[in-house]
Amino acid sequence: MKFCFIVGTRPEVIKVAPVYKFFLQMNEEAFVVATAQHREMMDMMLNVFEIKARYDLNVMTHDQTLDDVVASIMQRLPKILQIERPDILLVQGDTTTALSCALCAFHWKIPVAHIEAGLRSHDLYDPFPEEMNRRVIDAVSEYLFAPTNKAKENLIKEGIEENRIHVVGNSVVDALKIIKEKFDLHEIRSRTVPFERYILLTLHRRENIGERMISILSGVARFAMEHDVHVVLPVHKNPKVRQIVFETVRANHRFFLMEPVDYVTFLALLEGCWFVVTDSGGVQEEAPSFGKFVVVARRTTERPELIESGFGALAGASEESVYRAMVSASEVELDSVENPFGDGKTSERIWRILRSVTR
Ligand code: UD1
Ligand code: UDP
Repeated sequence: MKFCFIVGTRPEVIKVAPVYKFFLQMNEEAFVVATAQHREMMDMMLNVFEIKARYDLNVMTHDQTLDDVVASIMQRLPKILQIERPDILLVQGDTTTALSCALCAFHWKIPVAHIEAGLRSHDLYDPFPEEMNRRVIDAVSEYLFAPTNKAKENLIKEGIEENRIHVVGNSVVDALKIIKEKFDLHEIRSRTVPFERYILLTLHRRENIGERMISILSGVARFAMEHDVHVVLPVHKNPKVRQIVFETVRANHRFFLMEPVDYVTFLALLEGCWFVVTDSGGVQEEAPSFGKFVVVARRTTERPELIESGFGALAGASEESVYRAMVSASEVELDSVENPFGDGKTSERIWRILRSVTR
């Protein structure tokens, strides 16, 4: 059996890395195709996990459109599929990389396995275009690896046959466990930020870009000023995000702006923060493992488990709602680190399932 693993963006590398590495450990024939939808941020993560892609499609262009990314991948991937003829192609999540590669594999009648299947916000335009991407990927996939029972229920409601769905947890918990075991996060944090108490903030969602992002930043700034606390913000490489962040808070001395940091440093920042404000998917899934509360700066969520387990609040994206959610978060005391998204054994489960069905 030959397994082809696809990565293109930062979160895909983080969540695919432990699965791919587990397959190699089990002596499977496996290789990585990197689309490089994110050039710098993808490379940074491949370095952290010491992964070398067998093929690099190098699709990223400055200010790329969704159509540019789809078109470049769909032109370049088939040549590789023809040369390698993998038995199964694995994609992760809901990016344009995952969508394009799943569709390509479907055209070439290569079975697709979807890691992180079944997430739904139930709003086609929020997150955009990810909600559509997920639905299409799930529709063309033969193996649907749902992280939670809720994700499985979403798929069943859409009429997907139960025997295609496997609840395995989220591989992000495998990834963070690997890093936690290998590095001294406390020591890394102490040489990265000069404060004892800080809020960790990340922002990048397409639907937040514009007025909403300015409002979120204003809500965070108000909280930081009133509570005399710093805000550590690694700024995403998206030029549109950078422009808004720099124009809105660069002059505010409470904001500590950084370039995107490698995964080890990010987890160190997460471990040491007071609480998190984010519109990221992955960060929501990681925070519970560090006992950190998450203010989700979005209007919808496909990760209700975070809120139901008491680890987060859906704050919306207005200045007032984010500020209020932060005030509430500052009063929360968490003593659990039980992660509702996984237990660190997702990679092994995926391997066992694919081995048993493909022998
Ligand atoms: C993509 C995913 C999103 C995921 C996010 C992770 C889609 C539709 N969206 O969003 O689900 O949460 O990645 O961060 O696939 N850029 C650089 N260098 C980099 C990375 C990005 O310059 O290393 C620039 C790109 O050229 C582009 C912009 O950032 O102009 C946005 O990147 P893109 O991949 O189109 O979408 P994201 O918003 O990053
Ligand atoms: N992350 C990182 N460095 C940073 C910011 C985030 O390594 O400077 C990691 C974070 O731990 C998480 C992932 O990137 O695992 C989330 O990526 P992003 O928010 O870009 O995408 P999403 O998860 O929303 O798709």
